[in-house]
Amino acid sequence: MNLLVVSFVLFLTSAAKAKYTQQHESYFSTHTYYDLVRGDIPNFPECKAERLWLFSRHGTRYPHHHELKAFNDLDDLRHRIIKNSEHHKRGTLSKDDLKLFKKWNLEVKKKDAGKITKSGEKELHHLGERLLQHFPQLLSSYSKDGVKINTSSKKRTKQSAKAMLSGIYGQPPEVTDSMVNDDLLLVRGQCPAWDESTESKEAKRESSSFKSGEVVQEVAKQVSDRLGFKDSLSVDTVETMYKMCGYEQAWHHKHTSPWCIPFSKDHLKVLEYLEDLKKYYKGAYGNPLSCKLGCRIVADLNDSLKQAQRNVSLYFSHDEEMRVLLVGLGIAEDQKRPTAANYAAMDSRQWRTSKLIPFSANILAVSYRCQNESDSKVGIFLNEHLLKLGKCQGQELCPLEQFLQAYSSTVDPSICNMDFCTL
Ligand SMILES: *[C@@H]1O[C@H](CO)[C@@H](O)[C@H](O)[C@H]1NC(C)=O
Ligand SMILES: *[C@@H]1O[C@H](CO)[C@@H](O)[C@H](O)[C@H]1NC(C)=O
Ligand SMILES: *[C@@H]1O[C@H](CO)[C@@H](O)[C@H](O)[C@H]1NC(C)=O
Ligand SMILES: *[C@@H]1O[C@H](CO)[C@@H](O)[C@H](O)[C@H]1NC(C)=O
Repeated sequence: MNLLVVSFVLFLTSAAKAKYTQQHESYFSTHTYYDLVRGDIPNFPECKAERLWLFSRHGTRYPHHHELKAFNDLDDLRHRIIKNSEHHKRGTLSKDDLKLFKKWNLEVKKKDAGKITKSGEKELHHLGERLLQHFPQLLSSYSKDGVKINTSSKKRTKQSAKAMLSGIYGQPPEVTDSMVNDDLLLVRGQCPAWDESTESKEAKRESSSFKSGEVVQEVAKQVSDRLGFKDSLSVDTVETMYKMCGYEQAWHHKHTSPWCIPFSKDHLKVLEYLEDLKKYYKGAYGNPLSCKLGCRIVADLNDSLKQAQRNVSLYFSHDEEMRVLLVGLGIAEDQKRPTAANYAAMDSRQWRTSKLIPFSANILAVSYRCQNESDSKVGIFLNEHLLKLGKCQGQELCPLEQFLQAYSSTVDPSICNMDFCTL
């Protein structure tokens, strides 16, 4: 295992010299800009869409209150970086790089913390427009009896619903509190056993160990060298720069954030892995309780594809709920678990949160009736990419009965219930 790590570090050293990325890279975990990872929903000309179920994460947002302190501290770091370069002639920043650092300021006002940005509204508006284009039969007119719209009680999911509905419907329905459904769309605070498990020691073990290990320390060192620091910056500081870079890219994807400049692609991949480990063990395949929460959303899908009175369901939720839904559906599960020790071996893993859960991430399920076939079929799309589910032997469109059968034990109420939540 040690051998792997060492050879990786060497590789990192040579690659890092070669190229520093400026922008348009999608390694920012749950802060990734949606358009960098989304696909295009294919058309099935022989098929007619009958029902549609969409589970969406809110759009690009501003940082939360608790993140702001660290971002404000970047202002001081920025002055030190400029001084390193201009005064001490240390580091490898170009004149243009320096210009970007000189111009930078944190644009977030306290009152905006956690809210959707303009770019976030656009993302969802455009997603709504694309959905209408693909499924005009289902979406061209709104009726209360035909369309179910639910949000969590948070402002950002309501804002997201509003933005998407304006993209779908010429005259969008108003988003009201009667649409709040925290039972399904906001797990936090509702299930004590879950909340405890996500804060447990086991949940943090692999990410902490990776963070203090050689691979991440080497990134911190190389980034510090580039910025002209004699002593290595802390990994926390490097993580703050990485997060700021991701946010600023999602807010203004045509501009380069100075906080992206210190990183090469290989650095970003390492920091992405650190995030992937956190999310994996907190609330995905690495936490045995994830499936017990995810199954409830799969049960709602099961109901919506066949029985429900309404043929369109649009849900607006959060990162955490997206993760348990992925687990419930069995999407992006690797045969090997990612750990602190197997970074290099997991290079082509499926569990990449940047691809899975960017801002505005969504899982779309559509049931179709296709020519000459008596039974309906289901297509599942992740961020507008059609998925070939293992449970359906990799078919593009899965026969509805086969699909429901494949998840029948997942949604069985004797297994899928909240009994485990009480401590
Ligand atoms: C969807 O449901 C509505 C209301 O029940 C109905 O009027 C409409 O025809 C349905 N659309 C499709 C494509 O089945
Ligand atoms: C979800 O939204 C619909 C309106 O689209 C509303 O009737 C319902 O009460 C909401 N909440 C739940 C739990 O379904
Ligand atoms: C899942 O769907 C099937 C077919 O519509 C239905 O018979 C079953 O009761 C549903 N299960 C749950 C848990 O909703
Ligand atoms: C579907 O059925 C029609 C007429 O019943 C037939 O002409 C056509 O070839 C069939 N298409 C396929 C793809 O089987």
